[in-house]
Amino acid sequence: MSTNTLTNEQLKIVIVGHVDHGKSTFVGRLFHDTGSLPEGKLEQLQAIAERRGVPFEWANLMDALQSERDQNITIDTAQIWFQTRKRQYVIIDAPGHKEFLKNMVTGASSAQAALLLIDAHEGVQEQSRRHGYLLSMLGIRQLAVLVNKMDLVGYSEARFNQIETEYRAFLKSVGLEPQGFVPIAAKHGDNIANRGANMPWWQGGTVTQTLDRFEVAHPAENQPLRFPIQDVYRFDERRILAGRIESGTLKVGDRLMFSPGNKSSTVKTIERWSSLSSDVAQAGESIGVTLTEQIFVERGAVAALDNALPFELTHFKARLFWLGRNPLTKGKAYKVKLATQEAECSIETIHRVIDSATLETVSRREKEIFVGRNEVAELTFKIKRPLAFDLHDALPSTGRFVIVDGFEVAGGGIIVDDDYPRRTAGENIKSDNIYWSHGKVTPAHRANRNGHPGGVIWLTGLSGSGKSTIASELERELFNLGKQAFVLDGDNIRHGLCSDLTFSPQDRRENIRRVSELTKLFMEAGFIVITAFISPYRADRDLARKIIPEGRFVETYVNAPIEICEQRDPKGLYAKARAQEIKEFTGVSAPYEPPLKPEIELPTNQLTATECVTRILEYLHLRDAEDSISI
Ligand code: ADX
Repeated sequence: MSTNTLTNEQLKIVIVGHVDHGKSTFVGRLFHDTGSLPEGKLEQLQAIAERRGVPFEWANLMDALQSERDQNITIDTAQIWFQTRKRQYVIIDAPGHKEFLKNMVTGASSAQAALLLIDAHEGVQEQSRRHGYLLSMLGIRQLAVLVNKMDLVGYSEARFNQIETEYRAFLKSVGLEPQGFVPIAAKHGDNIANRGANMPWWQGGTVTQTLDRFEVAHPAENQPLRFPIQDVYRFDERRILAGRIESGTLKVGDRLMFSPGNKSSTVKTIERWSSLSSDVAQAGESIGVTLTEQIFVERGAVAALDNALPFELTHFKARLFWLGRNPLTKGKAYKVKLATQEAECSIETIHRVIDSATLETVSRREKEIFVGRNEVAELTFKIKRPLAFDLHDALPSTGRFVIVDGFEVAGGGIIVDDDYPRRTAGENIKSDNIYWSHGKVTPAHRANRNGHPGGVIWLTGLSGSGKSTIASELERELFNLGKQAFVLDGDNIRHGLCSDLTFSPQDRRENIRRVSELTKLFMEAGFIVITAFISPYRADRDLARKIIPEGRFVETYVNAPIEICEQRDPKGLYAKARAQEIKEFTGVSAPYEPPLKPEIELPTNQLTATECVTRILEYLHLRDAEDSISI
């Protein structure tokens, strides 16, 4: 291939189209017409065809290049590229859309632009629509549509216009606006790199002119750092963590936080395969790093900076394209691959299933239980262990994933927003020089011995609503069932740990923060904690939810009308509050904000304490059946 590159600029493109719409011919022609073929290659193939007495096919040219490439394993020839006056283009190998999807999703080769072929004679096919949908889903915003085989329709302008109108409307409905439609006849070279004489009516540009109008995306170096670890190499005491920086910038001295697991350490050196050395590495670079403190990190961990961490959860919501021979089925276990992470997953909820060609919502009765081939679904996955991820809109490379069924990549998709709780690592920590120390006995070990993991039943409600009564009954029940349970009660805690706090909004917040941290420690120790605090502010309870490990916070609204609480007045405090002997008394002179979506609600003016306890136990067992993480 010629090497007279004019600029260093490079754009990765993907070429998609229906199998018979002339992709190979087009690519062969494109290489030839842009002068990108190796010297003598064309003549060599023409001679072979002549000797065999068969017509020369442009498509054969690509096959020949491809097989040469396959035999040659050096890095330089691992990609097929051609060039125009403006820049170099790399074609991402996409023999089928499954490979394409896999390439896109694993990030090995994210295309920045796409050319989509449609056969002028056959027109817009089901597959053309599916491809369009796939491109839109994967966030490829630069697209040109090539209406090929114009020779077969007599170079008809009307036919071209008809296809353009139809397909443009489809693309619009999936949120894509193509940069252009170009009528071409790949076999004859019309409008590839040269205009040719067959379509004088065409005033638009050629394919190469259209390509040159695409923009090279800015490197993602200003975005939050994401450095997924591919491998850990051990040399004596030294460990090198190797991977590709997907976004952001990494510097020697940076404090890295590894997700999942929240281990942190500082970058000591950046190692490169080439001899160039620098203390800074940026998005797109494959590097190794060594750390100042040796921590246990494995393939799959994602390094980020403290101020912009990925989500780290056991569920995510996604838009998924399913290509598997077998449907994606509820109740079955799959493997999710995201960046370098792999984990077992299954469907939690299927929200919607769409046919990717008609864009119609599939209304089959069983739609809740499977997603069929070539369907797109909006669904929530649950994962066996926490996964570090981002929203695809924000950080594409850690926001897309593939699903493996058996040994096959059977689908892929992108992660969409679902109001995920953000981690606030170190937000309130005054000193930088403290690290979480990990014991040798993990929460999993304790959960195993106890027969249940830690958790918290967070009772909230007015003074006198029944929190303490329910808490102590529940504690006794759980204890009798052989569980580790412990009550943290407002009045008790305010005798010691929080004896310095008043009932001002700020102090209540601090009260809840301390209690949440305490609860978290108790949970690590393997306990089911039952808390009985008024915790009147929603924001404070949300803070508690954030502090407690994901999915283990059971907000329980102990709901009794204020009149009832006031009648009960077990400590005589309402009377004092009415007499203005107590200031800022909840329900009288300070607000109570009821939970909007509590996990459990207990109307204590209708239920006895025993009934309330039964409800909580039922809830815990219900969750047990669903995802086996409860008691
Ligand atoms: S919270 O608002 O900070 O969550 P917490 O549950 O710890 O309150 O403490 C509430 C208990 O403190 C009540 O059960 C009551 O016995 C007592 N108390 C004393 N003064 C007040 C007050 N101004 N408002 C509410 N509770 C009060």
